[in-house]
Amino acid sequence: MTEPTITTLEDAAAVSSAVAQHVAQAIQAKPKLTLGLATGNTFRAIYADLVALYEKGGFSLAQAKAFNLDEYVGLAADHPASFATYMKQHLFNHVDFAPGAARLPEVAGGDIAAACAAYEQAIATAGGIDLQLLGIGRNGHIGFNEPGSPFDSRTREVALTASTQSANAVDFPPGEAVPPTAATMGIGSILDAREIVLVVTGAHKAEALHRAFHADPSIDCPASALHRHHNVHVFCDKAAAGL
Ligand code: GLP
Repeated sequence: MTEPTITTLEDAAAVSSAVAQHVAQAIQAKPKLTLGLATGNTFRAIYADLVALYEKGGFSLAQAKAFNLDEYVGLAADHPASFATYMKQHLFNHVDFAPGAARLPEVAGGDIAAACAAYEQAIATAGGIDLQLLGIGRNGHIGFNEPGSPFDSRTREVALTASTQSANAVDFPPGEAVPPTAATMGIGSILDAREIVLVVTGAHKAEALHRAFHADPSIDCPASALHRHHNVHVFCDKAAAGL
């Protein structure tokens, strides 16, 4: 079991600024960096801070690549609640990734298993992920790997739990249901990254953070798989670190 590096800061704003600086420094050190990207509320402020650093001339993503963790199955890329739309709004439209260099699983339709396999292959062809950004769900999920996901799982279609669907319902137009399934990088895919940055803010995430690192690793808490990785950096605020 390897201990993560833990940086605890006053509040979510301080965490977001520190994570954005960490990412910017990684890109400056390696312009051809391959990033693993996450979505969710936690990352809105992080991407805003990263875009601000980019606009100050801090770095360029022109040579970088990126792979997002997950996407809803069956949503068109231009659907307002797709993660593709989120990424365009919060990051891709504001920075200089080369066309096609920043990707998400393409699972709007067709053969989902083939699209997941192609995504794994694309990550491998890119040389693997250098820096994987991760949030955590209240139930300990990472990406969309819900409790019960095997620690050696790869990119695949998964069923979303009722709690994840209701947590994410706010992103959908009124009356529109959250898709029942998503494609997500597996826990094994995530653990292949050379460095993992886990971002946890808010008292509502304190239990998930506690279970991830202070209980025995178990598939009941997907984030506890991070024990198996030798280069994990946790950025959290005091509220999330409360337990
Ligand atoms: C989502 C995403 C995760 C994210 C998590 C927490 O469903 N698939 O990648 O980390 O839930 O999101 P939030 O930051 O909104 O709490």
